[in-house]
Amino acid sequence: MKKLPHARHTIAMRLNGIDRNGECEPRTLLSDFLRYELGATGVHVGCEHGVCGACTVTIDGVAQRACLTLAVSAEGCDITSAEGLAPEPDKLSELQAAFRRHHALQCGFCTPGILMSCADFLSRVTQPSEAEVREMLSGHLCRCTGYSNIVSAILEVALQQAATQQVAAQQVVSEKTEDLPDA
Ligand code: FES
Ligand code: FES
Repeated sequence: MKKLPHARHTIAMRLNGIDRNGECEPRTLLSDFLRYELGATGVHVGCEHGVCGACTVTIDGVAQRACLTLAVSAEGCDITSAEGLAPEPDKLSELQAAFRRHHALQCGFCTPGILMSCADFLSRVTQPSEAEVREMLSGHLCRCTGYSNIVSAILEVALQQAATQQVAAQQVVSEKTEDLPDA
């Protein structure tokens, strides 16, 4: 029998590294599905029309507004929410630790969404300028911090990442040099 348009569908996806599934209507937003069906309450819901950025998650590695995405369209996707950032239950990611060090949050409502945009941004832009960081942050509304401490935290992590990549590149060069036959 044909399914009615409002009938509930079973949706399967990978959330924070774990295969999950749940039921939703065709019109259910991904933000509601993640929060209320799968329990990912780090997905915050503010404006529900793509302005505030609080609901941002990464879908197949790309930061996107969960409130502008239908849950059914995320079938089979690999989704990460703020709950998936920490490498271990008692250990913060570098980005989360930098936010804490720099006092980059107050009420914390905007924070999970900003962290997810940053995770995507820093995976693509290795040495961002302050202007580039501020441009990325322009997709997020924070009513508390004034943004300066958030910018400082992100720039610190970007510097750390650049230093780590430089050390790794130097190691590769020295290993290749060692492999060269003696003249
Ligand atoms: S709740 Fe999605 S952008 Fe505001
Ligand atoms: S820390 Fe309160 S909205 Fe950003």
